[in-house]
Amino acid sequence: MIHDHNNYFIVAVNAADQPLALGILGGHEIRACYVTPDVVGKGFGKAILLALEAEARRRGIAKLELGSTRHALEFYRRNGYKQTSAEELLLRGVIPYIPMEKML
Ligand SMILES: CC(C)(COP(=O)(O)OP(=O)(O)OC[C@H]1O[C@@H](n2cnc3c(N)ncnc32)[C@H](O)[C@@H]1OP(=O)(O)O)[C@@H](O)C(=O)NCCC(=O)NCCS
Repeated sequence: MIHDHNNYFIVAVNAADQPLALGILGGHEIRACYVTPDVVGKGFGKAILLALEAEARRRGIAKLELGSTRHALEFYRRNGYKQTSAEELLLRGVIPYIPMEKML
């Protein structure tokens, strides 16, 4: 676990200290939740997400927001996140994302 002033980082590593999954909480937003291709579908994403939510609750955050890729939409739905726009939006005019939120 790495802390800086605002963001909270979690990195899961293997026995050789190679990174397997990454999560970042910044303010009331999940800024990243990524799993390396080798371990997709093995529970790392959910574990990272639950740890970020636990930290958000510890910080007194009542509602978490995130921008999902189309690929990860169902992953977040299964973890209680709801889509807040029917349409895909564009981050900085180029990166498509779907806004979602969850009440903690
Ligand atoms: C999306 C991602 C974070 C999910 O992590 P993961 O470790 O593969 O997912 P988990 O094994 O923890 O799965 C948790 C649950 O979500 C479901 N799930 C995960 N990915 C899914 C997907 N793409 N579509 C549908 N369901 C999915 C799993 O079946 C599981 O369901 P269950 O709890 O009912 O058994 C990961 O696949 C990833 O990093 N993908 C590429 C990058 C990406 O799109 N990141 C999101 C950025 S917003």
